[in-house]
Amino acid sequence: MLRKELAKLPFSSIGFGCYGLGGAYGNKINEKQGIDLIQTAFDQGIKVFDTASSYEGTEEILGKAIAPFRHEVVVASKVGLVAGNIPDLSKSNVIASCKESLKKLGTDYLDIYQIHYDDPKTTVEETVEGLESLKEAGFIRSYGIGHLAKGRMLEYLKIGDVSTVLSEISVINNSSYTQLYPLHKKYGFDIMGFSVTGRGILSGEINHATKFLPGDIRAIDPQFKRSKLKSALRRYKKLKEISGDCGVTPVQLAICWVMQKEGIEVALIGPTKKEHLLENSRAAKCSIKKDIIDEIDSFIRKEGEWLKVAISEEVSNILDNQLNKDIVTAIKDLIYVLEHCLENNLMEHKRGAALYKQIIAVQKSDKSLNQIQKIKEEIKSSI
Ligand SMILES: NC(=O)c1ccc[n+]([C@@H]2O[C@H](COP(=O)([O-])OP(=O)(O)OC[C@H]3O[C@@H](n4cnc5c(N)ncnc54)[C@H](OP(=O)(O)O)[C@@H]3O)[C@@H](O)[C@H]2O)c1
Repeated sequence: MLRKELAKLPFSSIGFGCYGLGGAYGNKINEKQGIDLIQTAFDQGIKVFDTASSYEGTEEILGKAIAPFRHEVVVASKVGLVAGNIPDLSKSNVIASCKESLKKLGTDYLDIYQIHYDDPKTTVEETVEGLESLKEAGFIRSYGIGHLAKGRMLEYLKIGDVSTVLSEISVINNSSYTQLYPLHKKYGFDIMGFSVTGRGILSGEINHATKFLPGDIRAIDPQFKRSKLKSALRRYKKLKEISGDCGVTPVQLAICWVMQKEGIEVALIGPTKKEHLLENSRAAKCSIKKDIIDEIDSFIRKEGEWLKVAISEEVSNILDNQLNKDIVTAIKDLIYVLEHCLENNLMEHKRGAALYKQIIAVQKSDKSLNQIQKIKEEIKSSI
């Protein structure tokens, strides 16, 4: 659908995302490095670039980097949060944010404009009205959605003309994609897959002893804890075992696995180091036989079954016992529990999001174990 809409543009099955450039994975890079990286991505054949108003400073860097070849690439940005991380998808903010993004990017149109996070206070009708008016005025060519609960996603799909949906998908986590796939079949949107290297796990550079840099979101990301990490590292090991025979590296095999999934139009990679970019972008030229993909799928299925049991036990243990006295560990444990509940629809999405906000507020304040204990009780009563 997207490819058809943007038919006149050269498209690439691997896209470059700017989340990491803004420091999300602890390595905030400067303008010169960012421009160099993005232009290298273009030289490697990447034609799709993804950013967001909330990826600090990256719209400006992306705009400067692509200026010499703006009309040869697809530029996607996102709307959702205003100052203080407050969601605002009102028609006026959607329009104002888009104009602000265009200014920062130094361009007069976006190819894809995406809803980044939900705003429960605004109706989908109102947000879609804003998006449609931007389309009519030529400020955007198409729009997409991401990070929404299923009910809200369905509202957008029924009311709007949604071209793309963002979804996490990798060999270590394909649950969002699996849930999205039937909707893709029904509504025909394209999927923009992200975190396709498992936020670096599938490169082999991460293990149980990895200490993340300050500001690296992986320090609190449940994927890098407990059974989830154990299973992810086994999946990496499996890729390592079979990748050599395919003439690719494990991370290239991981990206190829994503690219061949039905509905995935673009696999977004987000490295900040040039050597990682070069390794990952070469995956576009690799071809992997179906029996290898099937072998990976079968391994993922078995790991998924193991993980289900292991996480359920861990979650019960955390909820039924005293929280760890170390508040930082207690906070990470509760985030681990919450993510599990949300991923498995054990809790209403809105409720989960509110509890997550409460945990983060405690983390940022005086870190009281009492408050965390209360949130734990609220989680227990919400599932
Ligand atoms: N993550 C999200 O929640 C999200 C949501 C919506 C959209 N997106 C979009 O999707 C894009 C891609 O997602 P992502 O950034 O999570 O993808 P990702 O490429 O899976 O993760 C990036 C992390 O993995 C590391 N990495 C990647 N390739 C590597 C390699 N070959 N060897 C070693 N380490 C490697 C990077 O390290 P270095 O920095 O050291 O290179 C970085 O820390 C984002 O930039 C954003 O535009 C993301």
